[in-house]
Amino acid sequence: MVACNDSTKVDKSDRLAVSKIRCGTVIDHINAGKALLVLRILGIKPGCSERVLIAMNVPSKKMGKKDIVKVEGKYISEKELDRIALISPNATINLIEEYEVSEKRRVELPPVVEGILTCPNRNCITNSREPIKSRFHVKMEGNRVKVTCHYCGKKIYEPDRYIVSR
Ligand SMILES: Nc1ncnc2c1ncn2[C@@H]1O[C@H](COP(=O)(O)OP(=O)(O)OP(=O)(O)O)[C@@H](O)[C@H]1O
Ligand SMILES: [Mg+2]
Ligand SMILES: [Zn+2]
Repeated sequence: MVACNDSTKVDKSDRLAVSKIRCGTVIDHINAGKALLVLRILGIKPGCSERVLIAMNVPSKKMGKKDIVKVEGKYISEKELDRIALISPNATINLIEEYEVSEKRRVELPPVVEGILTCPNRNCITNSREPIKSRFHVKMEGNRVKVTCHYCGKKIYEPDRYIVSR
């Protein structure tokens, strides 16, 4: 018998057992395939020194497939929460203290976001020389996030690629 590496051991319920973090944040129930976008929102880039565990397209009872991101020593700001909600409105945020979940909350879709998205309409006043911050109204339509530009009425579904980097 060949010994399995701990990090690839699969438990009875077919979940991948990755090592725990001591203190930090677990972002769970991320829409499948969006973990890398979440990392971008958190400012985790090549060359970073944080300890980060990522699982993509893992089986989930609630969602079919999901992504998970775990970051040691990281606490998520309100601004980061709003951005995560836009790409993954069902995500849950688990604060970890001494290896245990100390607090759990769901992200909440903000009704309005300012300065977080760019309007794809080139003629929109927010893309002119005027010093106007972008402003979008946010709604769920079915299971998709829909945002509408306050100034020009442009609608965007799943606004992932319009999130401005920080
Ligand atoms: N110390 C830890 N290090 C890393 N991940 C952890 C730690 N403790 C819990 N988690 C992860 O955080 C998430 C939430 O943990 P919890 O024990 O609340 O699971 P759960 O009961 O499945 O929660 P939920 O109802 O939100 O799905 C899970 O993905 C779990 O694997
Ligand atoms: Mg669970
Ligand atoms: Zn616009």
